Amino acid sequence: MRKIIVAIDGYSSCGKSTMAKALARYAGYKYVDTGAMYRAVALAAIRKGVITSDSIDEERLRGLVETIRIDFMIVDGVQHTCLDGEDVESLIRTLEVGNGASRVSTIGFVRRKLVEMQQRMGDEKGIVMDGRDIGTVVFPAAEMKVFVTARPEIRAKRRYDELKSKGQEMPYEEVLKDVEDRDYRDTHRAESPLRQADDAMLFDNSDMTIEEQFDALKKIFEKCLVG
Ligand code: DC
Repeated sequence: MRKIIVAIDGYSSCGKSTMAKALARYAGYKYVDTGAMYRAVALAAIRKGVITSDSIDEERLRGLVETIRIDFMIVDGVQHTCLDGEDVESLIRTLEVGNGASRVSTIGFVRRKLVEMQQRMGDEKGIVMDGRDIGTVVFPAAEMKVFVTARPEIRAKRRYDELKSKGQEMPYEEVLKDVEDRDYRDTHRAESPLRQADDAMLFDNSDMTIEEQFDALKKIFEKCLVG
């Protein structure tokens, strides 16, 4: 059967990765969480003091990006992100690293390096990739493109619940502010700002259950598969 490339883009905390993972499992495709790759770069940079709360040492970041290795491994059926061979899956999911990722992702040479890696991963198609620029920059010719969104308050509540379940409790207002700040940075940066590709399907899941989202996504996938 023909294999396609599925590009899922959208705002932070709108459930893109849940949708993308479920679709990849259903289709028997590879799944790549590109946000995790930016997070891994941020974690490496934070650890080495290359980014601090108010500065980024771009020269050292350039060297770092050229030398680190990012890959994925499966642990108990779940995809984990590895940085230079170390499983950093839980370490990259904090707000601090998320913010660092949002900042390093505004830098051109970081994006170029990761985009190149992502394009190589899609060489053989049969891949579901989620991120911010997959349908616009990484795979502009992807056969299926979905742009996911949800109201900011709903996304903040989802992130709040997720953080709480991991023992990282913080006030809802702070989480909402973080979501709004990140939306602003993601959509206003000079390099590959987040935007809906002209040929992407808009998918607002504010009022949908996970099952409803998956059903809708499966239908779009089946349509795109036959072309
Ligand atoms: O999806 P996420 O929250 O894990 O992404 C972390 C940050 O990485 C987010 O602020 C935007 C950035 N990102 C990006 O610029 N391009 C991508 N393809 C994926 C993520």
